[in-house]
Amino acid sequence: MKILLIGSGGREHALAWKMAQSPLVSKLYCTPGNAGIAAVAERLSFAVEEEEAILHWLQAHPVDLVVIGPEGPLVSGLSDRLRQLGVAVFAPSQAAAAIEGSKVFMKDLCARHGVATADYQVFQEVSAALAYLRKQGAPIVVKASGLAAGKGAIVCQTLQEAEDAVQRIMVAKEFGAAGDHVVIEGFLRGEELSFLALVDGEYVLPLAGSQDHKAVGEGDTGANTGGMGAYSPAPVLTPALEERILQEVIYPIVRGMAAEGYPYRGVLYAGLMIDGDAIQVLEFNARFGDPETQPLLLRMRSDLVPLLLACANGSLQGMQIAWDPRPALCVCMVAGGYPGKYAKGQVITGLPQSHQQSDLQVFHAGTEQQADHIVTAGGRVLGVTALGESVADAQKRAYAAVESIHWQDLYYRRDIGYRAIAREQQS
Ligand code: AMP
Ligand code: GLY
Repeated sequence: MKILLIGSGGREHALAWKMAQSPLVSKLYCTPGNAGIAAVAERLSFAVEEEEAILHWLQAHPVDLVVIGPEGPLVSGLSDRLRQLGVAVFAPSQAAAAIEGSKVFMKDLCARHGVATADYQVFQEVSAALAYLRKQGAPIVVKASGLAAGKGAIVCQTLQEAEDAVQRIMVAKEFGAAGDHVVIEGFLRGEELSFLALVDGEYVLPLAGSQDHKAVGEGDTGANTGGMGAYSPAPVLTPALEERILQEVIYPIVRGMAAEGYPYRGVLYAGLMIDGDAIQVLEFNARFGDPETQPLLLRMRSDLVPLLLACANGSLQGMQIAWDPRPALCVCMVAGGYPGKYAKGQVITGLPQSHQQSDLQVFHAGTEQQADHIVTAGGRVLGVTALGESVADAQKRAYAAVESIHWQDLYYRRDIGYRAIAREQQS
C-alpha cells in the first residue's frame, strides 16, 4: 500500500522510519519531510499549510492512507477534506481536534464528563486578567488559549512573572492570535506523565507510558519548549494507575466525544499531572507527542501500519501492541537560543551511520540537505534515541552518540531522564 505522511519534525521521522519497516508498505511519501526522512520516504515539496496543493497532488497520486503528524492541519480541518475525497486518514476530525486547538473547548469537555483538570478562568481583557491574578496570587499558570507550538503555557512562580506573562500573551502577542484569549489556571504539583492511546472513535488501545522534559533548562527550569527529551516507559505509570487513567480520563472523554457527535479517531495524548492519588489533566493533544514518539516507536515491536489503518477504519477492537521491555530515551539537540531566536543553516558534523543500528536512532527534526552537507533548519534539530538495559543505560548510550555530533550553536540538556534514573537507583 501507499502512504502519505504529513509533517517534518522528529515525530514524523520516527513515524516514517517505523512505517517504512512495514511489509505492507510499497511506497511511503512524506511532505515536506526533512533530511533524515529522505532516507526512508520520498519527499514532496508541499509545506504542511499548503492543503490545496496536497489535495491536488493526491488526486493524481492516490494513496491508501494519509497520516497527519502535527497539530496545525488537524485543527484547520485537513482530515475532513481528505475524508470527503474518500481517502483513509489517520487523524481526528477538525471538530475532535479542538481538544488540542482550544483550551476552552478542552476544559468545558472535561467539566461535562467529570474529568479532573486545574481550576481556570478565561479572559479577553487584560485588565480583568490582571485583577484575577492579583486575587489568586502565585504560583499560577498563564496560557495562550490557541495553538502555540507547546510554548504557550507560562508557569509563574511570582505575581510579577504572571503579570508579565499576560502582557507577553495578550499585548505583545508573542504567540499571535493564540493569545486573543488567555487561560489562567491553578498551579498543579506532581509528576507529569504523557499517556497516549490509539482511538478508532469507540475503542481505545493505550500505548506504553512516556515522559518528556518540557523546560529548556536542566532540572526542568526556564521557558517551556516543544520538548527537550523524553523516555519510555514512565516509571510512575503502574498497571493500577493505567487502569485508573483509562476509567477516569480516557474512556469518559472518548465516550463523551462520541456521544456529542464528534467521535475521536487517531491518537489521543493526555498530558497528566500525577500527585499521589490525584490524576489531573494538564492538556490534551490530538496527535503523537514530540519527542515522546521517538522513544515509543523505538520500543514498539508491532507493525505500526495496521494500527494506524484500524484507527482510520474503526477496526481497532481486539488489536494489541507488543513492546520491547527495554527503556528508550531521546535527547533533543536544539539550536542555541531555542525556544527564542536561533540561527539556521549551520553545518552538522559527526552524524553516525545510525540507520544500521536497531537500538540507536538519530531522528532528524529541523534539518535540510544542502549540497553534501546536512544543515540545521529549525529549533529542535535532532532527537538522539537509544534503547538500554535500564533508563540509566539508555541515557548513557544516547549521550555517547550526542557527544559525537556537532554544529556551531548547539545546545542540549544533560539530564534527560533524571527522575526515572533516581527511581531506578532507589529500587
Ligand atoms: P500545556 O501546554 O498546557 O500542556 O502546558 C505545558 C507545560 O506547562 C506542562 O507540561 C506543564 O509542565 C506546565 N503546566 C501547564 N499547566 C500547568 C499547571 N496547571 N500546573 C503546573 N504546571 C503546568
Ligand atoms: N512533547 C509534548 C508535545 O508533543 O506536545
